[in-house]
Amino acid sequence: MVTIDIIRGFSKLTEEEKRNFIARLCNDPPQAEDKLERFLMEDENERSQFLELSENTISSFHTPYGIAPNFLVNGKVYHVPLAIEESSVVAAASHSARFWAERGGFTVTALSTVKLGHVYFRWYSEPAYLLERWHQLKLFLLERLKRMTSNMVRRGGGILSLDLHDETSVIEHLYKIELKVETINSMGANFVNTCLEDIAEALGLFFAVEEGHDEKKLQVAMSILSNYTPECTVTVQASCEIEHLKPIAERMAVDVFADKLRLAFEIARNDPYRAVTHNKGIMNGVDAVLMATGNDYRAAEAAAHAYAARHGQYQALSNCEIMGGRLTIGLTIPLAVGTVGGITNLHPLARLSLEILGNPNARELMGIVAAVGLASNFAAIRSLVTTGIQKGHMRLHLSNILNMLNVNNGEREEAELFFINRKVSFNAVKHFLHDRSH
Ligand code: MEV
Repeated sequence: MVTIDIIRGFSKLTEEEKRNFIARLCNDPPQAEDKLERFLMEDENERSQFLELSENTISSFHTPYGIAPNFLVNGKVYHVPLAIEESSVVAAASHSARFWAERGGFTVTALSTVKLGHVYFRWYSEPAYLLERWHQLKLFLLERLKRMTSNMVRRGGGILSLDLHDETSVIEHLYKIELKVETINSMGANFVNTCLEDIAEALGLFFAVEEGHDEKKLQVAMSILSNYTPECTVTVQASCEIEHLKPIAERMAVDVFADKLRLAFEIARNDPYRAVTHNKGIMNGVDAVLMATGNDYRAAEAAAHAYAARHGQYQALSNCEIMGGRLTIGLTIPLAVGTVGGITNLHPLARLSLEILGNPNARELMGIVAAVGLASNFAAIRSLVTTGIQKGHMRLHLSNILNMLNVNNGEREEAELFFINRKVSFNAVKHFLHDRSH
């Protein structure tokens, strides 16, 4: 018989009790408990603030926090914090940033910031009656919403539109009210959801007051913001003369190199298998900045991939063009980011990241994030069409192994030289160090 070890009331245990309980699942419970504790912050205040961000917290999971310096975006230099565990991403983004900074940098060419959400409901009465009442209902909803939007309006944002959509051709009786808003510097999830839940409540009130409550007439299914934000996008570009690609062409003729770059982007536009990996290379940079600034990278991932499939086939989010002796790369990506509110204010390092970036507003941050995405993408493609990505990865892999083996500077230098054109593995490095010292 299968036994299932269900624990009841885990959330009611104290933090120490939870750690102790979980440590007992490990091979060496005292060591596990010690490790869980060691990864917590020492400062009491920061520690409790941090632990309270989530639930059932028993430790914190660290991620390397690095800087990709020299991102020139719209004429301003940023040294961008990246939180990412994957080796090569920060180094690649940094090289790419420097390369493009010396060639004019990244330019934001388009930007929109509309967020949206929906109240889904079933309407069982006459469709014509709903449509007839919509104008009145909309005025009623907008009037009520003023209570919760006044602060946002003062900051320059607020409601942009409220529309009724007939979805009955897809699902019987289904309608949705679509709310579009401008949330300025906040990502807006709480604002949008609060407005939507108010609309849902008002919907019931409006028809109950008008007609006397009839449960069968109207049923609200749900109210939720949409993470698909095709009207909250940013487009960045970088461009240079083909001649100026020479330093990164790995001894290839520049026009051949440029053509291979362009071909790589074209393949990713046409083949979904390649497009997914191509876009993953973009998201390596995007997610790392979002993580470091306390933004919701899951929302960005979901939106980016939906946007990549908006024409019916999943495609690359970035593009490359050669014209008049110049190569231009560009990226358009949906990005709903915030620089105030939520984790951006609560996570000590997220706040610091924004400070390092010069406290950008949301629009400025969108440009920075997109530039890092495009830079990461370009760096990956450059490697793929020249040396392949393993060379760079192996250098870092070797460095990680040498760190693990606690080598001195002399050993490191010799190992780096020895493994330039050799396959790196833990055993190979260990053997090399052993043979060297005998
Ligand atoms: C690895 O994290 C990302 C790449 O696979 C992206 C790409 O293939 O374009 C190198």
